[in-house]
Amino acid sequence: MGHVKILVTTPIPAPGMDILAAAGEVEVLAVDHAGLKERCASGEYSVVVSQLRDRFDAELLESARITGISNYAVGYDNIDVAAAAARGITVANTPGVLTDSTADIALLLILSTARRAIEADHFVRSGAFVGWEPELMLGTDVSGRVLGLAGFGRIARATARRALGFGMTVKFCPRPPGDREVDDAELGEFAGRVAHVSWDELVATSDFLSLHVPLTESTYHLVDADTFRAMKNSAILINTARGPIVDEAELVTALRERVIAGAGLDVYEREPVLAPGLAGLPNTVLLPHVGSATVSVRSEMARLCAENAAAMASGLRPLHPVDP
Ligand code: GLV
Ligand code: GLV
Repeated sequence: MGHVKILVTTPIPAPGMDILAAAGEVEVLAVDHAGLKERCASGEYSVVVSQLRDRFDAELLESARITGISNYAVGYDNIDVAAAAARGITVANTPGVLTDSTADIALLLILSTARRAIEADHFVRSGAFVGWEPELMLGTDVSGRVLGLAGFGRIARATARRALGFGMTVKFCPRPPGDREVDDAELGEFAGRVAHVSWDELVATSDFLSLHVPLTESTYHLVDADTFRAMKNSAILINTARGPIVDEAELVTALRERVIAGAGLDVYEREPVLAPGLAGLPNTVLLPHVGSATVSVRSEMARLCAENAAAMASGLRPLHPVDP
């Protein structure tokens, strides 16, 4: 094999590093944005194995002399894919393997916000629990309530499957704020079991509004002050997708003023920084971006990510390229 170097910005779980080591010379180096730019421009590396916090913007890519970027994630909003393509740089991701684990987190956020699980846990640990009370920790029902899915990709569908099992009514809008056709073949197992509605109807009628769209120009601040005003006062917002889809400062205001009832979040607009006031609100459940965080899922992601990188290092098309 010719000499190829692979830059790894953060070591990935087994079996990722072994697969990479078999494909070329691996250099693990934590870099900031300037360092990443410099390394990419050096001509030393064929492929970069990147994390969501590594930002490949058009300016960085302009001077990049690499052939591939293998992102350790299914999302790739950290990479300007069009600018990469213009430089002949292939981008790859890790789809499919984290679908169920992320849908599990969506359900966890639905259940834990509805039933006040985190607040209740703190209550017990603090010693405040002195016995059963008729009105202790009353929450809201999940069964029979409307789950509105923004998006209808793999994770949304896996969430729908779970929600139907909980007796929820499921509605979806496939490409908010716009719409697109979804025929029976695409609906598949969901034909007749879920309702395709407009974004406005989804927002107005959901008891739980759950976001499952990629972050793009058209989904940036998809959920803003107007959206909160259009939602039910009793509604709960669930976000396992990307933070900037929600105007987080407006979310804090909406929660504080009881414009909506609660939020379950796994992602944040300026991760890992939270909007001022968010952490002090009782009606929220806040997780540290753990949608894919199971031992087996992270291992599968590492395998896919390393195999993508190995293919690109050999001048081959990766198994999971991202289309510009
Ligand atoms: C996680 O957010 C991912 O995109 O894999
Ligand atoms: C992610 O895998 C999605 O398409 O929802």
